[in-house]
Amino acid sequence: MTTPPKSSNTVWHHATVTRQRRADLNQHQSILLWFTGLSGAGKSTLAHALEERLYQMGYHTFVLDGDNVRQGLCGDLGFSNENRIENIRRVSEMSKLFLEAGVIVLTAFISPFHADRQKARNLVGEDFVEIYCDCPLSVCEDRDVKGLYRRAKAGEIKDFTGISSPYEQPKQAELVVKTGEKSIDECVDQILEYLIERGVYERKSVVTSKP
Ligand code: ADX
Repeated sequence: MTTPPKSSNTVWHHATVTRQRRADLNQHQSILLWFTGLSGAGKSTLAHALEERLYQMGYHTFVLDGDNVRQGLCGDLGFSNENRIENIRRVSEMSKLFLEAGVIVLTAFISPFHADRQKARNLVGEDFVEIYCDCPLSVCEDRDVKGLYRRAKAGEIKDFTGISSPYEQPKQAELVVKTGEKSIDECVDQILEYLIERGVYERKSVVTSKP
């Protein structure tokens, strides 16, 4: 939202336990993997599958998922353009805090508007990695895992992304994963290869508990 901040007269308190010290302790850097795409494109599934692989090798991770965050922190927000903008603003700020906490953050939000993703990128800087889950609308509609497309087309849900609310495709995403064509494992491997290239991730033999 564009209203000026109300919490004036605040002074930032600098932590002695810095992001770099946390990275030293964790033995890995933090980074933000920002999954964007239509509902049903596979953002959450992919983010959780990637998190599972990273966790098993000892990486500290957390998934911020649209459906979950909207049941708590963003439970006061609906799906108007204005509310989606505020949703993504909060998630961007929260992701920045998680980065400071030394965590590999995976966000799974439709985040339909280019301007909001750009704001998140500007806020976070070079640690922002945009991952476009590229899945045709027709495939998402056919899958309709949550039954929401059917209800949106019947007029029972308004402002539904892809049906009655726009989705602006990323033009400069760091990664495009073809979630409509490839398996989850193939998509996870593609992202891991990218993280290796970025120097964030290395294959480790340490295996922690499996689910
Ligand atoms: S965003 O547009 O603000 O980024 P977000 O990712 O948090 O959306 O929430 C999307 C999820 O909310 C969808 O996966 C779906 O389960 C649910 N949902 C409920 N109503 C809508 C709607 N009108 N448009 C899109 N998703 C909706």
